[in-house]
Amino acid sequence: MEFILLDETQHTYLQQAARILRQAFPHCFDDCAEEIVQEMLMEDRVALGAVRDGRLVGLAGAIPRYDLTAWELHPLAVEESSRSQGVGRALVGELEKLLRERGCLTLYLGSDDEDNSTTLSEGDLFEDTWEKIRNIRNLKRHPFSFYQKLGYQIIGVIPDANGLGKPDIWMGKSLAR
Ligand SMILES: CC(C)(COP(=O)(O)OP(=O)(O)OC[C@H]1O[C@@H](n2cnc3c(N)ncnc32)[C@H](O)[C@@H]1OP(=O)(O)O)[C@@H](O)C(=O)NCCC(=O)NCCS
Repeated sequence: MEFILLDETQHTYLQQAARILRQAFPHCFDDCAEEIVQEMLMEDRVALGAVRDGRLVGLAGAIPRYDLTAWELHPLAVEESSRSQGVGRALVGELEKLLRERGCLTLYLGSDDEDNSTTLSEGDLFEDTWEKIRNIRNLKRHPFSFYQKLGYQIIGVIPDANGLGKPDIWMGKSLAR
């Protein structure tokens, strides 16, 4: 597997990127995957692709949010048939390396729970917020466990971000400490 920085000349990879996004997030990117890929290519951002046998199998984007010291990881997706083979871990590792070189101290991301995939979807998350975060359990392979394995920790939540009982879970990792 090799990593490439995606740019607007790579039409085939960009089409594959849009397909991977649609497949990974059908509920939100079904009709706008091409636009999301174009946004990933904006000048200040980083758009990384993982290529295997000449085909894009995953992508990771990063957006500078606080000058260059904190970046948001968005989006991240691996094509279905290539999951659980270390592609996601390798992509995030490579992205962290690139961002460290650009002065990133903190890499963070939001990971929604829109379908009761974690215990944070149960009840009112404004009550006992930090106790619930401490005791979070994964009910349906929510990706927070993937990020935890890569060294990310939960740094906050937005209760009801996507509707009642549908929080956004914010995670972050220091690239400097
Ligand atoms: C989340 C995603 C990027 C993971 O990519 P991947 O290539 O399958 O992950 P890896 O094979 O590198 O997995 C690394 C580790 O995380 C674990 N893991 C991966 N996805 C997981 C999940 N959903 N729940 C729990 N653990 C998970 C793997 O078992 C592996 O553990 P190990 O090192 O102990 O063997 C991929 O499943 C995906 O694209 N999902 C749909 C889109 C998505 O949810 N993106 C993130 C939005 S915030």
